Amino acid sequence: MADPSSGQAPAQDARSRAAAIVARMTLDEKIQLIHGLFPPMAKGKTQNELIPSAGHIDGIPHLGVPLIRESDASLGVANQVEQRKGDVATALPSSLATAASFDPAIARAGGAMIGAEARAKRFSVLLAGGVNLTRDPWNGRNFEYLGEDPLLSGTMAGAHIAGVQSNRIVSTIKHFALNSQETGRTVADARIDEAALRMSDLLAFEIAIETGKPGSVMCAYNKVNGDWACENAHLLSDVLKRDWGYRGWVMSDWGAVHSSAKAANAGLDQESGQELDQAIYFADALKADIAAGRVPMARLDDMVTRYLTGLIETGAYDAPASAAQPIPYDAHAEVAQRAAEAGIVLLKNDGDLLPLARTAKRIVLIGGHADVGVLSGGGSSQVRSVGGAPVEIPLTHGAASSFARVTWHASSPLLAIRAAMPQAQVTWIDGHDSAAAAAAAKAADVAIIFATQWTTEAQDVPDLSLPDHQNDLIAAVAAAQPKTIAVMETGGPVLMPWRAAVPAILQAWYPGQRGGLAIANILTGRVNPSGRLPITFPASTAQAPRAAPVGFDQLTAVEAQAAADPAHAGDHQLASFPIDYTEGADVGYRWYEKTHAAPLFPFGHGLSYTRFAYRIPVVTGGAKLSISFDVVNTGRVAGSDVPQVYVAREGSSAPMRLAAFRRVTLKPGEATRVTLVAEPRILADYDTALPGWRVAGGRYRVALAHDAQDRSVILTTTVDAATMKP
Ligand code: BGC
Repeated sequence: MADPSSGQAPAQDARSRAAAIVARMTLDEKIQLIHGLFPPMAKGKTQNELIPSAGHIDGIPHLGVPLIRESDASLGVANQVEQRKGDVATALPSSLATAASFDPAIARAGGAMIGAEARAKRFSVLLAGGVNLTRDPWNGRNFEYLGEDPLLSGTMAGAHIAGVQSNRIVSTIKHFALNSQETGRTVADARIDEAALRMSDLLAFEIAIETGKPGSVMCAYNKVNGDWACENAHLLSDVLKRDWGYRGWVMSDWGAVHSSAKAANAGLDQESGQELDQAIYFADALKADIAAGRVPMARLDDMVTRYLTGLIETGAYDAPASAAQPIPYDAHAEVAQRAAEAGIVLLKNDGDLLPLARTAKRIVLIGGHADVGVLSGGGSSQVRSVGGAPVEIPLTHGAASSFARVTWHASSPLLAIRAAMPQAQVTWIDGHDSAAAAAAAKAADVAIIFATQWTTEAQDVPDLSLPDHQNDLIAAVAAAQPKTIAVMETGGPVLMPWRAAVPAILQAWYPGQRGGLAIANILTGRVNPSGRLPITFPASTAQAPRAAPVGFDQLTAVEAQAAADPAHAGDHQLASFPIDYTEGADVGYRWYEKTHAAPLFPFGHGLSYTRFAYRIPVVTGGAKLSISFDVVNTGRVAGSDVPQVYVAREGSSAPMRLAAFRRVTLKPGEATRVTLVAEPRILADYDTALPGWRVAGGRYRVALAHDAQDRSVILTTTVDAATMKP
């Protein structure tokens, strides 16, 4: 059932209504709706205005089918490489930062904000809802996803999607499935065991689809177990449509279609950005398949019906985004700032160095272009932000592709810290010269280093080290100034060889268009840090399931060949290769527990300027596992905490899994009783023979924890055996 408060129509009504509209269509009208244009390459293919963006599907006016414009929107209405000159939008922090809030309300507010701006810019379908689990810390797109845990990722993605769709427009969920690295994303074959897939990446999608009810699912570039994701009958028809009862439409990723009949019969409903495929598959080719009986007409009808169902259910059909509207950018900037403040993680704070003492007179900021702004991630999610012209600064290492520009949102930490600490002299130096930086640090009362790591769609990071000479710089500064604070603006985890020497470390991710302000508020204690890591920070690359992006060396060789032979650059293509996800469902922190590896910082970790205690925990079992406990703010300032519940069957060698969490905000001295119920599919294993979920039953260990490694409070209870349909 659709949520009545969302204004969405109940699914059955939407489907019957869609089917009735399809029944009035000619064959050509049906075909017209199942392939979309890529506006930058589609000049002359439509009479309608093409807004430079990701997608465009003409409507059918005499039947009331609206024209649909699609935009990327993971972090805001995207405007990659400024294809719409001067068109700004509110830029949220990275999705990983939002995930670090562990707060679905923050994710929902971000989605609602983006959806409102998209509607006001005439977009009705947003390519948002990225929920691929982080399997490898060097994935170039980790910043666009929600971390490594299926429950956290699924919950946050669902909330984000529901927020977008509260504007009566569609959000996708993407990229279905296992697009877990960018290296070779269009040729790689992601291989994994069925049960493990159901219990990890697919579970994140399943939870997000249940809670967010996205109108559309975007299938991925890569192959999954031998078949392209966009012509994978098992994923699209068996799992998504049969087992999960999904009623919306499956759209392809841009350039991810490889066939007409096979893809249509497997369950792909719409070819996106058709100009990017080798051929346009879902127009004349599909028409020929239908004429020849290779694709049943009933399947075509289902494809169109699903498209219209997604539009009708979300409200986009009846209220198409056709008129530009003013946007309350100031109010939206607050949404971005709140998300950044809730997602920044205080990793380390020895001797309570933070918040900055009011007595600090000379503060030197070093590096990271902190005079200018805060870094953002690259690729199709790139937003041209509000609040001052974004600054593009080329990398000094490696090559940024023409696909993406390295962009700083104009929210200067330097100006924000100056404004927050008028009594202090706050200066900035670029950090290019480590010796000069160390001298400046020594002469100051406190040094704050801004470390940056740019990551982007379409490229993995080759390793987890901070690029350039930043590690040396941090070590040199920390050696000169004991009060050194590192502020990390990174896509995901990086190694910190200097960790022992730096007393305070703040993980700021890509903090969005109000990032400078958010960082200043946390450093100065106006805001109490409350983010928790949604992703494990490894102590070394060797701890990760794979030590490097699979295929990275082949890709480097192919790129070198193409560069050496520019006349035939296109002949040098990366060949398909397998990626074996042998860690299975033991992704992220579960992998670290299984391999007894001590990470740099565990999943779920995050400090506060206050302290929280858990008291009087009571666990009950039976048909469901629930735990009640008091959370007490035992410190002197208000703050937010995220109690986490991890479970495992007693006697099983499987690592503990996050089964529930809740963000709570408490005044000093305040206590609140919290009850958390374990997600049943986390207690279960997927049983392919059943098929479905099977809770083994018996004694379960329950950890009430501050992070994934914390085992200070362990209780046990007996849970009933049970099975659940897939
Ligand atoms: C990305 C998608 C994006 C699409 C349209 C693809 O390259 O993988 O996430 O939505 O382009 O821009």
